[in-house]
Amino acid sequence: MRYRYFLRTKLKNQLPDGIMLPSGFHVVGHVALVHLNSSLQEYSSLIGEATLTFDARIKSVAVRIGPTSGEIRRPFYEVVAGDCNTVTTHIENGVHFKLDPIRITFSGGNKRARIDIANRVEAGEKVVDMFSCVGQFALQIAKSTDALVTAIEINPEAYQFLLENIQINDLDNRVTAILGDCRDVHPVNYANRVIMGYLHNTELYLPYALDTLMQDGGVIHMHMAIQKNILKKSITEIREICNRKGFDSQIQIRKIKNYSPGVDHVVFDIGVVQA
Ligand SMILES: C[S@@+](CC[C@H](N)C(=O)[O-])C[C@H]1O[C@@H](n2cnc3c(N)ncnc32)[C@H](O)[C@@H]1O
Repeated sequence: MRYRYFLRTKLKNQLPDGIMLPSGFHVVGHVALVHLNSSLQEYSSLIGEATLTFDARIKSVAVRIGPTSGEIRRPFYEVVAGDCNTVTTHIENGVHFKLDPIRITFSGGNKRARIDIANRVEAGEKVVDMFSCVGQFALQIAKSTDALVTAIEINPEAYQFLLENIQINDLDNRVTAILGDCRDVHPVNYANRVIMGYLHNTELYLPYALDTLMQDGGVIHMHMAIQKNILKKSITEIREICNRKGFDSQIQIRKIKNYSPGVDHVVFDIGVVQA
């Protein structure tokens, strides 16, 4: 709300009366990511220039021009004010993430979930992050535990940042990066824990996560964007997939955040043992 009030005061007489201004924005490194409704698009440069003076961290302002799409979850933004170079370093809980946030999705709303999973990892574990992106989960886990982490990413651009981030954080002795589709390149009968940080049709990847776990079992953290009214049905489906792979399962659900109307971002914590 402070931002809305700031814009209203700063741009007084330059915007139509009563127009609904944004209440906030996301900051990734030095880049502010702003969502404007259609009536504000023509004022995006004006709002961008004002935003540069709102927060000393901000050197570039980008406005969303389309929905995040495709398997690699590419966001669509254009820079409307400040520095056109949007490659930046974002620091979260002591981990440095280099990335370009107008080309690669980095959700600050998942910060708590990343720290939470790192806290669950036990000494000596082998962890596989199947949807690693620039290392959001993988590096947070490697930085705060002694786990050996394998990070898989399909998008070559995100993979390059992942490689750099492993170096920047001095984790090359404990994080191995793999470029490719996790369904094809996952290790087999290897991990104690698998992270599935991908929200769309995630259950289709669950059989591969189960193959990645050691034969006697382990834990899978499966994220999903899911309609609230089908949560119970999903638990039954997950249990069946585990059974077909020869595992008994114990499943807990935690809500991470609201995703869209009627849809939550949740994580299924799936503990499995050989049946
Ligand atoms: C939205 S990001 C999430 C990053 C991180 N896991 C998190 O939750 O904060 C999802 C990532 O999964 C990658 N991805 C999608 N399909 C994949 C696949 N089949 N194998 C490996 N990576 C994949 C995308 O390219 C993208 O970088």
